[in-house]
Amino acid sequence: DPRILELRALRERARQGGGPERIARHHARGKLTARERLDLLLDPGSFYEFEPFATGRLVDGETFYGDGVVTGYGKIDGRTVFVYSQDFTVLGGSLGEAQARKICRVMDLALSDGAPIIGLIDSGGARIQEGVHSLGGYGEIFRRNTKCSGVVPQISVMLGPCAGGAAYSPAVTDLIIMVERRSFMFITGPDVIKEVTGETIDLEGLGGAYVHMAISGACHLTAPDDQTALALCRLALSYLPSNNTENPPFVPTDDDPLRADEELNRIVPLDPGKAYRMHDVVERVVDHGSWLELQPMWAMNAITGWARMGGRSVGIVAQEPSVMAGVIDIDASDKIARFVRTCDCFNIPLVTFVDSPGFLPGIDQEHRGIIRHGAKVLYAYAEATVPKISIVTRKAYGGAYIVMSSKSLGGDISFAWPSAEVAVMGADGAVNLLYRDQIASAPDPAAERARLAREYERKFNNPYHAAAAGFFDDVIEPRETRARVIAALDALRDKSVAPPPRRHGNMPV
Ligand code: COA
Repeated sequence: DPRILELRALRERARQGGGPERIARHHARGKLTARERLDLLLDPGSFYEFEPFATGRLVDGETFYGDGVVTGYGKIDGRTVFVYSQDFTVLGGSLGEAQARKICRVMDLALSDGAPIIGLIDSGGARIQEGVHSLGGYGEIFRRNTKCSGVVPQISVMLGPCAGGAAYSPAVTDLIIMVERRSFMFITGPDVIKEVTGETIDLEGLGGAYVHMAISGACHLTAPDDQTALALCRLALSYLPSNNTENPPFVPTDDDPLRADEELNRIVPLDPGKAYRMHDVVERVVDHGSWLELQPMWAMNAITGWARMGGRSVGIVAQEPSVMAGVIDIDASDKIARFVRTCDCFNIPLVTFVDSPGFLPGIDQEHRGIIRHGAKVLYAYAEATVPKISIVTRKAYGGAYIVMSSKSLGGDISFAWPSAEVAVMGADGAVNLLYRDQIASAPDPAAERARLAREYERKFNNPYHAAAAGFFDDVIEPRETRARVIAALDALRDKSVAPPPRRHGNMPV
């Protein structure tokens, strides 16, 4: 039947995107095509495409089937996801009216179906030839990103350029994964910057994976190539439910929930001036091999990431005392607040490990608005209705004690290790404030200051005064941490809190 043959021929033409020559150029850059990427992302044979024959507004007489994007649905680990994959071989993957319509269609279906939406992004941005139609397309996409936010997981995998206002779509999504040396995100490109400010920079230095991982904090995970980035996307989804009404998948583990780790009893040095690695604590407590750290190179004084405990997803938040002593600064505040909210949206309980001497002092921090940024941390924790468990391992001073999932802020269950120290501030600062005159009039002021500091430390450098007042539910041996947290998570599984009626809170952003 010639009609069948015609369909087959048209399908083949649609599959070719920008044609064999452009595909060869694309491959030569070490990049996979839009369809090859979907094959790797999704369970084999599970992908079904929408609108392969869609064509855009006529550009220079040439039209391309699909209009530079492959959209549809498929499965990841057996669960439905909606996807779009931009095709750089068609007009640089640029977004025209038809491409925008196709992307909006899968976003709408993801929202109404309650399934994640994944964007594989590789695009020169707004299609210049389509003018306001492309700009309007981004408006439609941003609107849907915002509507989907907190309802279905949204993941952006950056596999090429994402230029101009287009970068604001991934920015709204829950997770950004970037491929090193091949993906770039920027609002204005190197040429415009050169013209406006006179600064010279290349694409990599302006908005490459390293920049967004280590400097801007825009990106959560990086990968050396397309394959690894797509595998990371699958992995990340394993911690997330399909939507906000479901729980994340249970992943059975052979790691005993009662496993005691003797090493943890020795991990916090007796000398308070010595550091240890909170990363080691986290890895020893969670299910073996389940730890996925997010933003590992940005605001490294704070730790955020997903893991599983007893097979269930948890969001881990912690300080890293071996980086800037675990202080909370502006970037750490932003990192923690955003992550806490991400977990709260998707029914992922929060497990918080605290070791912080407080918020970072300094004129620069104050002038850049640490009040505004630090407030996000307490807002996010106080607002979160998922189970919240905290463990103070060592220092919990001042504001850092209060904001990091403390009981008074609404934490459900709080544990302290015997090494915990809860105080308004460290001994030196406190003694200088309280006993200024007494120290000054002493025959040997230095000795008096040291004596008072020792007295203060005896009083506050332990968890028992806080435990006596009910601020900790228990003081536990570090080796018991895993068992106690898993039991607490189990007990809190059916926690339900009705939010107060309001349009929405007004978080200081
Ligand atoms: N609109 C229309 N076509 C575009 C485009 C856009 N925004 N961006 C890229 N293209 C086309 C190019 O004309 C080229 O077409 P061809 O294959 O027919 O020659 C093709 O896509 C590939 O682009 P090219 O510039 O050769 O690729 P590159 O890898 O060297 O550079 C970019 C990629 C994204 C850095 C570069 O294309 C660019 O700067 N684009 C404009 C980005 C921008 O400012 N967009 C506006 C956002 S609001």
